[in-house]
Amino acid sequence: MALLEVKDLHTSFFTDAGEVKAVNGVSFNLDRGETLGIVGESGSGKSVTVYSIMQILAPAGRIVSGSVKLDGQELVGAGEKVMRDVRGNKISIIFQDPMTSLNPTYTIGDQLMEAILLHTDRTKQQAWDRAVEMLRLVNVNEPEKRMKQYPHEFSGGMRQRVMIAMALACEPDILVADEPTTALDVTIQAQILELMQKLQKELGMAIIMITHDLGVVAQMCDEIVVMYAGSYCERGTADEIFYNPKHEYTKGLLRSIPTMSTMGQKLQPITGTPIDLLNLPKGCPFAPRCEAAMKVCIRQAPESMVINADHKASCWMNVKAMAEKLGADATSNALEQGLSLEEALAQGAEAEKQGLEATVTYVEESSYIRDEELRSARTQAAEDVARSAGDPNHPFGDHGADLIGDAGLMDARGAGSRILKQSERAASHGEKGGEE
Ligand SMILES: Nc1ncnc2c1ncn2[C@@H]1O[C@H](COP(=O)(O)OP(=O)(O)O)[C@@H](O)[C@H]1O
Ligand code: SF4
Ligand SMILES: [Mg+2]
Repeated sequence: MALLEVKDLHTSFFTDAGEVKAVNGVSFNLDRGETLGIVGESGSGKSVTVYSIMQILAPAGRIVSGSVKLDGQELVGAGEKVMRDVRGNKISIIFQDPMTSLNPTYTIGDQLMEAILLHTDRTKQQAWDRAVEMLRLVNVNEPEKRMKQYPHEFSGGMRQRVMIAMALACEPDILVADEPTTALDVTIQAQILELMQKLQKELGMAIIMITHDLGVVAQMCDEIVVMYAGSYCERGTADEIFYNPKHEYTKGLLRSIPTMSTMGQKLQPITGTPIDLLNLPKGCPFAPRCEAAMKVCIRQAPESMVINADHKASCWMNVKAMAEKLGADATSNALEQGLSLEEALAQGAEAEKQGLEATVTYVEESSYIRDEELRSARTQAAEDVARSAGDPNHPFGDHGADLIGDAGLMDARGAGSRILKQSERAASHGEKGGEE
């Protein structure tokens, strides 16, 4: 069981202008000691996601549906008493701007001691000692002297260290860092990140690192969730996201980071503006800005697809690539069987079409099928299609190959759903148990 399991989380703000759907179906798991990065441009729902987990939303905000489990305990609907304990003892947060979280009229020592006294049963003297120890832990020099100073006497980087010390006072299982270094210059930023990694090693806590900076996640994170318009468009291990991106938005983000070879050149920002969360489009939310968008992208939102055991993405390109692969396999299969080129190509086209239909159906049904089953069902369907395409006696119709963008595709699900049924049955003989 993962330490934190977030499933299909939906959070909205109910404003005079209407329902702002800030988080639309985010899912991820976090294990003990692991670092998860949540990346995405400003307004993509990163903060609202973690505020929902901690239930510290602005008054207009509400979790509409979904599940947040901490150590197996459901937090959605758990009530304020449980949440106070969670916030006091299990999950701490560091905000972007420490000045908004530190009280300018109290000394750093008073504020640190208050946090310690609130969360532990220490005496005042013990709390003082602990506060000094915490300041030393986060590399604040002359901690005894610093205890008696006020926030304005600290630099930005030092204040952020104090915030980290405060967040660690309750010895949390999970430390949430919401763009903790955005307000700092690059050198200080690097020091703070290094400090967080050091503390994580020493204290064994899990970290959720929110950032719009892919450089930060590359340095820090085991797992990455890429957010766009309140949903995750892609999630997976850092290696998968950086070296095998499967969503056009992520590819755009990666193109926009400076590398040695692009040093000195202009960055390539992703053009266009983020979408209006009051009026979410029917199709892929990234479609208006996506250079690779196809007609299907505008008509229907892509669902999350399993790319491999470490990787999921919601992009129609993956469906297209899969269908093309099936088509190519079927063509070469048919050629091996001795069919003419023309016949083989026709079979390839048919396999591609069937594969596409089958995949579309799987994608649609995916919320009802567990990932493990989905995976084997999809493999099974791919094999079925490839096998039938390679069979010279298989009765083929005369469909065209260019199916993506064909409006008829979305309606022609008959074949796909038949294969789905067969494969589901096949899959249910396979591995039944197993969480995600
Ligand atoms: N208090 C609020 N009232 C209404 N809408 C809000 C509020 N807070 C956030 N939102 C909406 O949620 C979206 C996501 O916000 P947020 O999670 O803060 O983005 P970010 O990814 O930059 O952290 C914003 O674009 C905004 O539309
Ligand atoms: S689903 Fe379509 S519009 Fe969305 S990112 Fe993929 S290719 Fe682009
Ligand atoms: Mg934010």
